[in-house]
Amino acid sequence: MKYIMQADKKKNIKNRYNLSADFYNSRYRDIQYEKYARMLNGMHLSGRILDLGSGTGMLSDFLDKEVIGVDFSINMLKKSRNKNRILGDAEFLPFKSNVFDFVLSFTLVQNLPSFKVFKEVRRILKPDTLFVLTLLRKKYDENAKKELEKGFSILKEADCGEDTGFICRAKDK
Ligand SMILES: C[S@@+](CC[C@H](N)C(=O)[O-])C[C@H]1O[C@@H](n2cnc3c(N)ncnc32)[C@H](O)[C@@H]1O
Repeated sequence: MKYIMQADKKKNIKNRYNLSADFYNSRYRDIQYEKYARMLNGMHLSGRILDLGSGTGMLSDFLDKEVIGVDFSINMLKKSRNKNRILGDAEFLPFKSNVFDFVLSFTLVQNLPSFKVFKEVRRILKPDTLFVLTLLRKKYDENAKKELEKGFSILKEADCGEDTGFICRAKDK
């Protein structure tokens, strides 16, 4: 029953983003850019970078760097100028373990039915690398931080407009 409800929740969210792809950038660009700047300015990003829940690819435009984007909404992905994009579910990432230097994820996690994603992110990150994420505060679940801390040390928690942001280091596996 739990899994059926989770699958339904995901389906609804996917439909919602598929429908909002046409106006997403004009409505949210400034808001998202502000979050990127607050979380990433001054950070030296290099190596293999994953943008998890990449949507229309605004983060790769902002960074002007090669990043791999993963999102489960085909319409959002189609809007992306970044051609390194993969249609996939954040909870079941199509990557080998220990392959990324950074995972960045803006305003994704509040959409997910569980915190399985944190395990997946830790699995694909190389040891001692960074996971930078924000999640929408109005949908913030207090358990998020507790779950995050199982696999990551939180280096910084930041007020990020409508989101709360975390910069985290992957703990040893
Ligand atoms: C609020 S948008 C943020 C998009 C992008 N990170 C940005 O900064 O503009 C949330 C994105 O998460 C994606 N998403 C939601 N649940 C997902 C899942 N289970 N797997 C992959 N992507 C998901 C949605 O399709 C949508 O593109």
